[in-house]
Amino acid sequence: MTAEIISGNEIAQQLRSQLFTEIKSLAEKDIVPGLAVILVGNNPASRTYVKNKQKACEKLGIDSRLIVMEKSATEAELLQVIEKLNADPAIDGILVQLPLPSHIDETNVIEAISPSKDVDGFHPINIGRMMTGQDCFLPCTPFGIIKMLESIHYSLSGKHVVVVGRSNIVGKPMGQLCLSRDATVTYCHSKTPNLKEFTKQGDVVISAVGKTGLITRDHIKDGAVVIDVAMNRDENGKLCGDVVFEEVKEKASYITPVPGGVGPMTITMLLYNTVQSAKAKI
Ligand code: GUN
Repeated sequence: MTAEIISGNEIAQQLRSQLFTEIKSLAEKDIVPGLAVILVGNNPASRTYVKNKQKACEKLGIDSRLIVMEKSATEAELLQVIEKLNADPAIDGILVQLPLPSHIDETNVIEAISPSKDVDGFHPINIGRMMTGQDCFLPCTPFGIIKMLESIHYSLSGKHVVVVGRSNIVGKPMGQLCLSRDATVTYCHSKTPNLKEFTKQGDVVISAVGKTGLITRDHIKDGAVVIDVAMNRDENGKLCGDVVFEEVKEKASYITPVPGGVGPMTITMLLYNTVQSAKAKI
């Protein structure tokens, strides 16, 4: 079997054009969605991510405000900036780019963001609401993956989903979103022995580890859906995921590429959450 490729680029484009229409109708009501992005320090990868988020906002007509703080900025200074943005009616979403410098406590920062502007879906209140099936901002990467599965009309009900990775941003919420769609979920991680004994049972395998070459054809059962969240560099510096794409695509039914897979969906769902937040003003 040769897998069909799930193009994140295409699905993201469709969703963005729907968002564009929604933003235009908000403009008729004098509402312009506003996203504040805070970058602390000069991490080159973070700068690239932030630039991409801003570009995507600009294209759609979301007002994006970039706040760059020195790497030496204190936690108190950052919390003050967040407090101002929480109170600013022109701002619908606040995103603090992670990771933060080690002298700043990430938990304190995330908890300082108003849950109603937490478009990353990282605040414990939003995570708790997600766990209990209440209306909330969903974390962008897992939400984007759900949209990808919906785009191929894949029903998770009764399926076995194996999530490889247990980060707060991807792995943990990913499993929860599958569980709430009636999947049976197995979590694996870096300390799981005999990884392939688990992944081979998966109707869906979602890998978010960040280890090139982790998922080979031996890890996948025939016809599985394989979702690769990772953004690694191979030995030639080329962007790649955890999955050995060329061999796994011969065994899977559907597979996401890297680049052009999950990556564009993450930013799209951030835009989506920001627009939803702005719509709450109507
Ligand atoms: N760093 C890496 N991914 C993300 C993300 O989705 N949101 C934020 N705020 N920081 C990140």
